[in-house]
This record gives sequence, structure tokens and C-alpha cells, in this order.
Amino acid sequence: MKRDFIDLSSLSAAEGHALLSLASWLKSDVKNRLEHPYLRGKTLAMLFQKPSLRTRLTFEAGMAQLGGHAIYLGPNEIGIGERESVKDVARNLSRWVDLIMIRTFAHDTCVELAREASVPVINGLTDLLHPCQLLADLLTLKEHHGDFTRLRIAFVGDGFNLANSWIEAAELFGLDLRVGSPSGYEPDRSFVQRFKRSKILISNDPKEAVSGADAVYTDTWTSMGQEREAAKRRREFRGFQVNRELMKHAKPGALVMHCLPAHRGEEITDEMLDGPSSVVLDQAENRLHVQKAIMLWLLKPEVLERWPDGAAARR
Ligand code: CP
Ligand code: NVA
Repeated sequence: MKRDFIDLSSLSAAEGHALLSLASWLKSDVKNRLEHPYLRGKTLAMLFQKPSLRTRLTFEAGMAQLGGHAIYLGPNEIGIGERESVKDVARNLSRWVDLIMIRTFAHDTCVELAREASVPVINGLTDLLHPCQLLADLLTLKEHHGDFTRLRIAFVGDGFNLANSWIEAAELFGLDLRVGSPSGYEPDRSFVQRFKRSKILISNDPKEAVSGADAVYTDTWTSMGQEREAAKRRREFRGFQVNRELMKHAKPGALVMHCLPAHRGEEITDEMLDGPSSVVLDQAENRLHVQKAIMLWLLKPEVLERWPDGAAARR
């Protein structure tokens, strides 16, 4: 049966750890200028209904580094669900390409695409989740801290796709997660209730959320598709900015994290985004490596199964 990468909840913790190890190994190959063309002859279709810098670039470059090819389809091109049904798009694409990545609004569109496609589908962000970003974030924490499962993570800001993916990650790896959001912008209660095992604190007090954190994460207050609410959100999120004052409540030296793009001066100050504790560019870089691991896992699962017996997986 084919697998997809739609959310973190469908992974086991062992698979999550193996994907991160595979990503680290692919990263070291890139640093050592070693080629790894495991996906030679394979084609990825990338469907974007929203803008992107990191996701588009890292999937396209990643596929090229693996010896394959990526095709970009922008918001005005295929009209998924409008010009043509999701099901028809899925079934056509499955005849031509080996893998599909989609960035869209409704999470159900991504789920339906995966259900109707006979090739694997990757979630490149929906309004509900951003699992590729989370894997890159976890790889970044692993690089800086080793065993990231013992860390306390504070997510400060909108209880939207990134916060939800952090909740999934907390459940998967047993993280101590504290979410600080203004009243009315907390993660959806019915979503949170799905996760029974993890220790998740949800607070309307950003200082409480950040207290004792090893890493403080934020995301834009106005996500793609919410632009008309920008002024209202700027007012209602006041007090939730990641700045020098708020960071005093975290552990000394706590990492500053952001998925980017940042709205500088809104959810985060320049000083924090560009400061010595910021790892935002590591997070962005790691998108490349984790997504290559995801594509390999979906198309050549034997590579992951043999990992971490790296030598066997390698040649
Ligand atoms: N973090 C992220 O997904 O960036 P893009 O929106 O630029 O792809
Ligand atoms: N929450 C943001 C994340 C961007 C990577 C958005 O959906 O626009």
C-alpha cells in the first residue's frame, strides 16, 4: 500500500526518528559534496495554491539533488477543485508523475488528493498543518540540543497550522509543549482533544507559556489567506511579540525559532530574529534535508528501513 506524508500523527516515533537520521545523513552528504541520486528518473508535481519561497525552493532543489525532476504548478494554473475536481486532478497526475506535493487552504483537499491519487502525496502546508516544517524544526533542535524529546518548547502566537503541527509533534515524541495565544486564537479545542498522551499547556499569558522554555517559537500573526484581518490581528496579538523582554522568562540562552516568512516588528523583533540565539536559518536550511528524506521514504522505503545501517543504505 502506498504511504503519504500528510501529518505527523500517521508516523510512529521510530519512523520520525529514522526520518530525522536519514535527513542528517543526506545533509552530511551535501556538505561533503557527495552525490546521492536515489530518485533518478522520478518526477514530483508541486501544486501551490498559496505563495512560497522555502517550500518551493527546497522541494525543487531537493528533487534535483536526488537525481529527479520537479514541476511547479502555481495558484493560477490548475484550479484544483474549481476548474477540475480534486479527484480528477489526482487521477490524472497519478498517470504522469511519481509523487505529488500540495500547498493548499482546506486540509480536506490534501486528504482527498491523497485518497484519490495512486502515488504518494506530501502536505506542503494546509490551514491545519505544516508537517514538513515541523520535521525541519525538530532536526534543528536535535542539532543544537541532541535529545530534543526532553526539551520544553514554547509556541507563542496564533493557534493555527504551525501550532497544530507542534501539538502533533508533542504527542509523537512526548515533548513538553506550552502554547501561548490571545483569547480567541488558541488552537482549536476539538483538535487538541485528539491528543491525550502529551503534556500541553495552553495559556493566554505569553510569559507563562515561555517560562523555563528551551526554545521559543513564533509564527506570523496573519497567515496566508487571512490578509483582510491583518489590522485586527495586530491589535489583538499585541503583547505576544517575541522580544528581549519576553525572552527573559525563558531559560538563559533559549533558542529563538520561526518558520518564516517573518513580519519583522510584529510577532518578533529584528533583535531576536537576527540575534545569537536565533536558529531560523538552520530551520530554513533543514527544510531541504528533511524533505529529501521524506521523498526517499515515500518512493524508496527500503532506504529508510536499512537506516541507520548507513553504509548499506548508501551504495
Ligand atoms: N516556512 C515556509 O513554509 O516558508 P514558505 O511559505 O516560503 O514556503
Ligand atoms: N502560518 C503561516 C505559515 C507560513 C509558513 C501561514 O499559513 O501563512
